[in-house]
Formats: sequence, structure tokens, C-alpha cells
Amino acid sequence: MSTDACERTVTHLVVAIDGPAGTGKSSVARLLADRVNAQYLDTGAMYRAATLAVLRADMDPGEAGVADIVASADIRLIADDGGDNVVTLNGDDVSQEIRADEVTGAVSAVSANAAVRAQLVEMQRNHANEALLVVEGRDIGTVVFPNAALKIYLTATPEARAERRHRQNIAAGRESILDEVLDSVNRRDHLDSTRAASPLRAADDAVRVDTSDMTLDQVLDRLAELVETRIGGQR
Ligand code: DC
Repeated sequence: MSTDACERTVTHLVVAIDGPAGTGKSSVARLLADRVNAQYLDTGAMYRAATLAVLRADMDPGEAGVADIVASADIRLIADDGGDNVVTLNGDDVSQEIRADEVTGAVSAVSANAAVRAQLVEMQRNHANEALLVVEGRDIGTVVFPNAALKIYLTATPEARAERRHRQNIAAGRESILDEVLDSVNRRDHLDSTRAASPLRAADDAVRVDTSDMTLDQVLDRLAELVETRIGGQR
């Protein structure tokens, strides 16, 4: 098979799910992968692991040199069928640690670095194989897998997203003030959508789904239906 034919085979089995934080993207992508028997890839977890490597090296996340730290870090993501991804940094399982506030606060700066993005995009593409892959992130349909068979862009109002994050915080026993959560949502949206390197935006051929007034089950049903109608026959 030629390289071209091989690439086409790989990319047409990707479901790309992009959108800002708090749209329910992670929960729905994981459940969707489980439902349609696909592998699940959480690319945000890779940016978080890269950020943890930078913080452990005591570097300022906005410095250009962070790309060298990321290049020398051994970041691995184990994509299984459906369930959570396990992320390791230099052999340690950091799946929990990458969710800490310190990492969340620094990840936008690290992910704005074009050289970091180039390294992680290559790792992400290496996960594509014959299996159906559900990949979630910010630039999956625009940059990582521009030929994905199905591109979904999840949106929700900043208020709806902040409300969800606030409720998750309370449920997890974390202190949370709704106004502060809304500020943080707006700040991260601004950073992610105005950065020069692969800003967050919907691909022209993405199906937009506004989840503001939808339950998780409703979003899941809608996405599963899209997978079935768009690529059901190709598997
Ligand atoms: O989905 P998340 O909140 O775990 O993502 C963490 C950060 O990583 C987010 O602020 C944006 C960045 N990110 C990115 O720039 N590109 C991706 N494909 C995935 C995440």
C-alpha cells in the first residue's frame, strides 16, 4: 500500500471532537468511544503532562525553552478501548497529578508554544491505526487529523460551562466560587482561541453541537447517531 493510501485508511477512521473546556467534551468522548467500541485519546492530557514536566523543571511555562524540556520528557499515553487514558511522565503514572490546579493554571501557556505542539501532534498521529479512534482536543479536526471522517465541535455558553465546572468542584469536595470559575473559563477561552499556534476554532466541515441545554445522555445519543450515519458503513 502506498503511504498516501495508508494515510487515507488511517484518517478516515478518526472521530475528532473539539471545543472549549466545560462543554462535557471529555465525559462524552470517553462514553462515545465505549459505545461505538473505539479507542479514546485525550490530547489535553498530553498537554497537561508536558506542563507538569515544565513545572517539575521549575521553568516559567511561557519561556521558549520549555520545548526542550518537553522534548526530553518521556510522555506516554495509553489509549485503551473506551475507559480512561493512563498518562505517564518519565515512567510515573501522573493521570491524577495532571488535573491539579497548578497544572490547569499553566497549561494554556505551554500549549501556546508552537514547538511543543509540533511534538505532541506527532505523538497524537502515532496513535492512529486500523481501529476507530475518538480523539478529543482543540485542534483535532483542524490540524491533527484534518481528514477525519467525522468532526464534531461541541460548544456551550460560558455560563453553562462555568456552572458545570462549579458543580463538579462541589461534588469533588473542592472549594468553588461560581464567579471565579466563570472568570477562569473566560480567561482560558481567550488564551486558547487567540494564540498564534493552532488556535481553538471549529473546522469548516465540523458538525456543531451546542450542549448548553442538553444532558450528557442526550449529547451522547446525538454523537453516536452521527458516528453511525457517517461512518457506520465504513467499519
Ligand atoms: O481538555 P483539557 O482542559 O484537559 O486541555 C488542557 C489544555 O490543553 C487546554 O487549556 C488547551 C490545551 N489543549 C490544546 O491546546 N490542544 C489540544 N489538542 C488539547 C488541549
